[in-house]
Amino acid sequence: MAIIFNETTKEFHLFNDYLSYVLCVLPNGHLGQLYYGKRVSEQSSYTYLLEKRQRPLTAYVFEDDESFSLQHTRQEYASYGTGDFSQPAFEIISSDGSRLSDFKFESYRIVDGKPNLKGLPHVYVEKDNEAQTLEILLKDVVSETQLCLSYTLFSNKPVITRNARFTQFGQEKIRLSRALSMTLDLPDSDYDWIHLDGAWGRERHISISPLHKGIQSIYSLKGSSSSEHNPFIALKRPQADEHQGEVIGFSLVYSGNFLAQVDVTPFEQTRISMGIHPEGFEWQLDNGETFQTPEIVMVYSDRGLNGMSQEFHMLYNKRLVRGVWRDKKRPILLNNWEAMTFDFNEDKILALAEKAKTVGVELFVMDDGWFGERNHDHAGLGDWFVNQEKLPSGINGIASKIHELDMMFGLWIEPEMVNKDSNLYRQHPDWLLHHPKRSQSHSRHQFTLDLSREDVYQNIYQQIHRLLSENAIDYIKWDMNRYMTEAFSVYYSKNHQGEIFHRYILNVYRLYEALITEFPHILFESCSSGGGRFDPGMLYYAPQTWTSDNTDAIERLKIQYGTSLVYPLKSMGCHVSDVPNQQVKRLTSLDTRANVAYFGSFGYELDLIKATSDELEKIKQQITFYQNFRHVFQEGNFTRLLSPFQNNLVAWQVISEDEKTIIVGIYHLLIQANGVASRIQLKGLVPDATYLLNGKIYRGNELMSIGILIKEELQENYKDFVSHVFVLERKDEKDGNFET
Ligand code: DGJ
Repeated sequence: MAIIFNETTKEFHLFNDYLSYVLCVLPNGHLGQLYYGKRVSEQSSYTYLLEKRQRPLTAYVFEDDESFSLQHTRQEYASYGTGDFSQPAFEIISSDGSRLSDFKFESYRIVDGKPNLKGLPHVYVEKDNEAQTLEILLKDVVSETQLCLSYTLFSNKPVITRNARFTQFGQEKIRLSRALSMTLDLPDSDYDWIHLDGAWGRERHISISPLHKGIQSIYSLKGSSSSEHNPFIALKRPQADEHQGEVIGFSLVYSGNFLAQVDVTPFEQTRISMGIHPEGFEWQLDNGETFQTPEIVMVYSDRGLNGMSQEFHMLYNKRLVRGVWRDKKRPILLNNWEAMTFDFNEDKILALAEKAKTVGVELFVMDDGWFGERNHDHAGLGDWFVNQEKLPSGINGIASKIHELDMMFGLWIEPEMVNKDSNLYRQHPDWLLHHPKRSQSHSRHQFTLDLSREDVYQNIYQQIHRLLSENAIDYIKWDMNRYMTEAFSVYYSKNHQGEIFHRYILNVYRLYEALITEFPHILFESCSSGGGRFDPGMLYYAPQTWTSDNTDAIERLKIQYGTSLVYPLKSMGCHVSDVPNQQVKRLTSLDTRANVAYFGSFGYELDLIKATSDELEKIKQQITFYQNFRHVFQEGNFTRLLSPFQNNLVAWQVISEDEKTIIVGIYHLLIQANGVASRIQLKGLVPDATYLLNGKIYRGNELMSIGILIKEELQENYKDFVSHVFVLERKDEKDGNFET
């Protein structure tokens, strides 16, 4: 790995074994880009890649030169108004109303390691030799603004992270009306673009389409990253698939409004832009103030989509998630929500917990309904003290009884919200996001607290801090059940109203940071009506996320398959629930429900009191199975094999860190008359190694080229939605003699 600056050609070369990224100072002092992609050899210069030619209807930079235009030059952090007519990375409004800027190269520094992003989630390093960071300083002399573009190159990963930072050093106030995290210009447009879309209950479905000329984009203006779109896109070559070919993944480490856009110019160049959505955004900078954009993570893969995903998984598991829970086994939990909703008391909770103990559950979670007047979803949010009628011995009473059962105890909170029927609202009616002369929209009868305000922040912090310090809590599910509307704050002056969405998210991060620092033993799981805020920003604070409120095993195949494009199995809360499924009324077997949920942080979300003794016995076996192979599911290398978006037969596999155990999940959606015998070809095995499967020995190359033959396993009882989980153990010669 190295980052080199060539003083003569003014080129920066960033390269490691996997990728090269070449930047240069352009003739006008702006920063240009010459190459990003698979590793290429060191050249003394790549400036031959700059286009210098005359074209009609083109604006040139220098009066005596008809060869250099910004429109036909790949720029690093593009500006608008001086010759590049595409949408820019940023826009500054000066005090005279001008939106022009001219950021020229000033200086650079290269440091070992990776500096932290203050107040924002980010990927980190543990040792300085894991990465190098290049910071390039540019200056606009007219508005007296400095721009720092930061690039971190990881030594042994095909990963570059980027961010931008604006600092106003002049006396004049400026307003940033657009400040994306990056633009990246690519020289052609021969790509399919991939994104994860959906809605509540069907989050992160994979969408793939060829690029077309003009703009294609996804975004959120909902105040959170949202169920509808995820802050991630990838470009893949049309021939690339799950297992081979070139793919570039872009993941924004942010949880609020975002824009992810691909713009193909008439000249077939492609500009990828990602960052905070400019709609409604404006940030004022006074003298000495700084604006820091969120971080973008770029992964380059020449091993197809799985190659990209595996890099994201490793990076996010080990260098985004933090704290003791990063490396600890995630407990198997039972959550009482689907069993009870708001209808519970101490006796009911303890009866369910006792039952949970008998089957081996490790963590009991008491969901919504334990606080204030929370007997339904019209009341209580904002009042984070126990409802004594339901729970007379308080949270600690319940927690200690659950601890006596030798289980951990977890609790649900939704600290960003308030119901009008609450003490908090009655005392502070102006603490909602709202405009004083306009009505407010509600969602699930709740309103968003104006967390951008310091007094609101302090109140919520004090309440949750008290809750966590006075009670023996091991796990918190932090929910957020509505999108933001009327994002106006009576606390701020008119010049700061464009900052509210971002200030809100900054204070959500601040609240998380304070609580995880003070209570490091607590495992946090984020949630937003299921997976409405499943993003890397949240994972920096909460190591796992409730993947979706939709717990139907068949629907979950798509949700988990899509989520795995970016997010590791360990980060996905995956639970077995009752049938008929609450969301889609489908009947699936307990086996299939578990066979899907194993591929995540496993748990249950059903009423064990009503379960039959056969069901309880099966659940006990499932829990033992997961405990035996938890390290494989949570730490292993995951590969998607057959997609639920294209096939009737769905498959995925995970290989343990020591490569000794392989677990393959196979799901047959609809039974077919006179069905075919299928073969599932595995990936990533050692070709000559021997693997034991169902008492028979196979060679790695056999399993990868011929595959596992699927016959009777999926024909059981001739039913829809049959599944099977295969466990293969690698056997070394010294383990004994095997027949092959
Ligand atoms: C939405 C979550 O996704 C559910 O799991 C549950 O916690 C409810 N909120 C509680 O209100």
